[in-house]
Amino acid sequence: MNYKIAVIPGDGIGREVVAQAINVLKVVGEKFGHNFDLIEVDAGGCAIDKYGEPLPAQTLEVCKNSDSVLLGAVGGPKWDTLPGNQRPEQALLGLRKGLGLFANLRPAVLHNALIDASPLKPEIIGDGLDIMVVRELTGGIYFGDRRRDGDAAFDTMKYSIQEVDRIARVGFEIAMKRGKKLTSVDKANILDSSRLWREVIEKVAKEYPEVEVNHMYVDNAAMQLVKNPKQFDVIVTGNMFGDILSDEASMITGSIGMLPSASLGTEKLGMYEPVHGSAPDIAGQDKANPIAMIISAAMMLRYSFDMEEEAQSIEKAVTNVLDKGYRTGDIMSDGMKLVGTKEMGDLIMKEI
Ligand code: IPM
Ligand code: MG
Repeated sequence: MNYKIAVIPGDGIGREVVAQAINVLKVVGEKFGHNFDLIEVDAGGCAIDKYGEPLPAQTLEVCKNSDSVLLGAVGGPKWDTLPGNQRPEQALLGLRKGLGLFANLRPAVLHNALIDASPLKPEIIGDGLDIMVVRELTGGIYFGDRRRDGDAAFDTMKYSIQEVDRIARVGFEIAMKRGKKLTSVDKANILDSSRLWREVIEKVAKEYPEVEVNHMYVDNAAMQLVKNPKQFDVIVTGNMFGDILSDEASMITGSIGMLPSASLGTEKLGMYEPVHGSAPDIAGQDKANPIAMIISAAMMLRYSFDMEEEAQSIEKAVTNVLDKGYRTGDIMSDGMKLVGTKEMGDLIMKEI
């Protein structure tokens, strides 16, 4: 079978890490007999430079007509002075909304080999961590009305019952396949949108009696993540809280350079990208950690193509390379072997 994948390298380290993910996909294709057709398109800063807009209609069209989208990263200092609605980040929002990708899965897994890279003490981390952050991605304050009004400005956080209901279901379904524990994060002591959020979670919870549910205010959740991260299994939360907590969850696993993400809708089409950004400070220096991007490709195989075995072959390869002591700079520790982006990608490829 042929699988059509839209590839958006984007800006900064995006291009370097995407190149490694593509190499890995080629090897997986050969090994398991799949044909991956890759179509490269532009979005982000590079699209602004070429076409004058972060998300050209043509890019969105190609993505809509693909089986999945693989994205590196967008943004950089070059475009930081542009007005908000013309910045490279708009490409991401446009893709998420345009493709109907309302559910963002951000697994924060601490590999055994990287326990030293976590900033938390070993007694807090124990023998590892495995948290799944489920972030609502096409609603909330990211998409509400906003305006600058002279010397004031506002943004609006709005959620509908339907929007909360569908992300709640994604969270519960995932919890059922994992540890059957779900923590819903909100700010229901202040925000009406959060009170609605909590109400809907409670309602959907009735359909999943096996899942243990608790609610947490976002400030407390931020604290609990560093105090006792092992209490979490699945975290389900809104767009902005999920943005913040997923960065925090990623860091306690050692490095944001390790974490993949999947953005899903109601169809098989998904968008897969690392949680990290374009890291302009290290772009073009062969220093970036390609692992988040490579595991994002594994998530693509799992969620869009139902290729569980193929996905695991990538994840296993990553674990093996880490076990052998190879590290990029961001996860480097004493006695380990420092490698660059390309070498890390090659090692993982060979392992597959
Ligand atoms: C992320 C990023 C994006 C977001 C930015 C770049 C628009 O931080 O994917 O977490 O805020 O969603
Ligand atoms: Mg973020």
